[in-house]
Amino acid sequence: MKRSTAKTYNSSAPEETAGIARRLAKGLSPGSVVALVGPLGSGKTVFVKGMAEALGLPAATATSPTFSIINEYEGDPPLYHIDLYRLEHAEEIAELGLHEYFDAAGIVAVEWAERASGLLPEGTITVTLERTGGGGRKITVSRT
Ligand SMILES: Nc1ncnc2c1ncn2[C@@H]1O[C@H](COP(=O)(O)OP(=O)(O)O)[C@@H](O)[C@H]1O
Ligand SMILES: [Mg+2]
Repeated sequence: MKRSTAKTYNSSAPEETAGIARRLAKGLSPGSVVALVGPLGSGKTVFVKGMAEALGLPAATATSPTFSIINEYEGDPPLYHIDLYRLEHAEEIAELGLHEYFDAAGIVAVEWAERASGLLPEGTITVTLERTGGGGRKITVSRT
């Protein structure tokens, strides 16, 4: 039987969201995949920045680049930052060969991960971000 666990956090500021991400990232190991789900502006990239910091990469590392879909940040382990925002068609996503990143010895963070839901490996950690009032975010971390 599959066990699934979920934890919920409330963040009231970007720095708090990054802190939740830093704590999560410290428990990851090469091959971990983090699927980020939430609407535009919900804090997915802020979360990846926090992950990058925890992995010893500069805080400015993770950005929302206008054109690139996959960014590789050299670290030990490396961080693969994938943003599927510009890819709406399943065929385009299938052609990316995401499994090569999932199988590599790095940590993978995927924004708009629901677009690749059928491709995510078993053990993926899903982080869902929802806006609450003001600058609030409800962040749910679930492991299946
Ligand atoms: N609690 C919070 N957590 C994360 N981001 C927040 C929060 N409150 C306000 N923000 C702002 O929301 C925006 C989130 O942007 P971003 O991380 O790029 O979103 P996404 O990648 O989901 O589109 C940033 O401008 C950030 O400063
Ligand atoms: Mg983003």
